[in-house]
Amino acid sequence: MTWAQRFARFVTGAVVRAPFLWRLFRGPMTRNFDRLASEWQATRVSRERLAPMDAALDALPEPPQRALDVGTGTGAVARVLAERWPGAEVTGVDVSPAMIAEARRLGAERYDVGDASKLPYADGSFDVVTLNNMIPFFDEVARVTAPGGHVAVSFSMGPSTPIWVPLERVRAELERRGFRHVADFSAGNGLSLLARKS
Ligand SMILES: C[S@@+](CC[C@H](N)C(=O)[O-])C[C@H]1O[C@@H](n2cnc3c(N)ncnc32)[C@H](O)[C@@H]1O
Repeated sequence: MTWAQRFARFVTGAVVRAPFLWRLFRGPMTRNFDRLASEWQATRVSRERLAPMDAALDALPEPPQRALDVGTGTGAVARVLAERWPGAEVTGVDVSPAMIAEARRLGAERYDVGDASKLPYADGSFDVVTLNNMIPFFDEVARVTAPGGHVAVSFSMGPSTPIWVPLERVRAELERRGFRHVADFSAGNGLSLLARKS
């Protein structure tokens, strides 16, 4: 792993345990992803790396009307959502302005610069919320998911993903916030999980 990847892994572990620590890391992480934005799509995104998210989305029982991809980067998962469900309103949000600029260049979905620790959306705004290789801020994920809505969390290289949270931990955190576990998935080299909000 590069220094930046090791740093992302360290921050993920710290913030999942203690979300208030994010304020210490927001600046360096944002600058790090701003630096990577111009090469991200070409070097880090592929259909194979999206396979775990695809597997979780395949299990959604009905098409969502409003979908949010958190930590969208260059918008790869937002575009998957828009391709799958052309009638849905798809939004991608990311703390890195440079990533959002790339996402807007690559797709016509709505993209916002925003922080997942304090999402700029009303409670219950989305039928599906996705996170691919993204630090989960569970309180905010739970807040913006509509009752009956779903959350899909994927890690494209499983435990080797720099931003990685064990699925048992993801499941437990979501269950504590009123979600019911639907299933875990293994696809490509990665892992994912789907949960439904009661
Ligand atoms: C590893 S990249 C994954 C990008 C994208 N999901 C993908 O699969 O290509 C993590 C992304 O999360 C963003 N990010 C990290 N912390 C964030 C936060 N608190 N709020 C919003 N975005 C965040 C970063 O800027 C970066 O674009």
